[in-house]
Amino acid sequence: MRIVLDTDERIIIRKEGGREERFPLFSNEAFEILSHFWLKVGWNQRYTFTFSWLGRPVIQLPEDLIRYQEVIYALKPDLIIETGVAKGGSLVFSASICKLLGKGRVVGVDIDIRAHNREALEKHLLASLITLVEGNSIDENVLDQVKAEVHPGETVLVLLDSCHSKAHMLAELEAYSPFVSMGSYIIATDGFMADLYDVPRGRTEWKMDNAQEAVKEFVKRHPEFELQVPKKPYNESTLEKGPTQWPQAWLRRTR
Ligand SMILES: C[S@@+](CC[C@H](N)C(=O)[O-])C[C@H]1O[C@@H](n2cnc3c(N)ncnc32)[C@H](O)[C@@H]1O
Repeated sequence: MRIVLDTDERIIIRKEGGREERFPLFSNEAFEILSHFWLKVGWNQRYTFTFSWLGRPVIQLPEDLIRYQEVIYALKPDLIIETGVAKGGSLVFSASICKLLGKGRVVGVDIDIRAHNREALEKHLLASLITLVEGNSIDENVLDQVKAEVHPGETVLVLLDSCHSKAHMLAELEAYSPFVSMGSYIIATDGFMADLYDVPRGRTEWKMDNAQEAVKEFVKRHPEFELQVPKKPYNESTLEKGPTQWPQAWLRRTR
């Protein structure tokens, strides 16, 4: 593919497989094309490894965190379950919104919770809202520990951000979707890996081995979940799509 950015003519040209498309530079289409490549370059340059939330590194695109916050605010969950803790930033992010809402707590699952990360989370000012579970997210005994945290009738939101291979994401979707309450979501993050197969730090196999492929299979088997990007509570632009590392990620329980 070839992208030509002509700032003098104020156009952007996309050439692919003998096809050429031209868009005004100041258009929604141009924003989508630029966002797509900004994401790819940013991921390669480790842009998402440059943020923290209340003292803990958070490995997310700020755009995704803001959308996540919008959903937490709208749902006001009793419990947020997250797979993939790393240094704890997304757990602290979720816990901080719960704290502000005066409602909700967070369970984080990771196969390897490093001692210094555990210590930092256990000493964190939001520690009382955070429970850590160590182990492979799809192991029976880990799932039993998570299940013990879910109380009947609670509003439960799930974020899957551990291993993003198709097989693991599909196994997590199967294992964690029963915890999701009606109207809430299970979020299969990082499906944008599908677009990273051709960047220097990416892997060719990611083109098919990714979270979006897992979601495709999951929705075929589970009519109780629908792919639904949450409605933006605020949008005074004509833009619908923005940069996200979580395409095809939001699965809403509708029955
Ligand atoms: C992308 S990081 C999580 C980032 C974190 N959610 C944040 O926003 O800061 C992925 C984490 O998943 C964990 N992980 C990888 N495979 C796993 C598995 N099978 N079960 C549980 N955790 C796993 C890794 O140890 C790593 O800490």
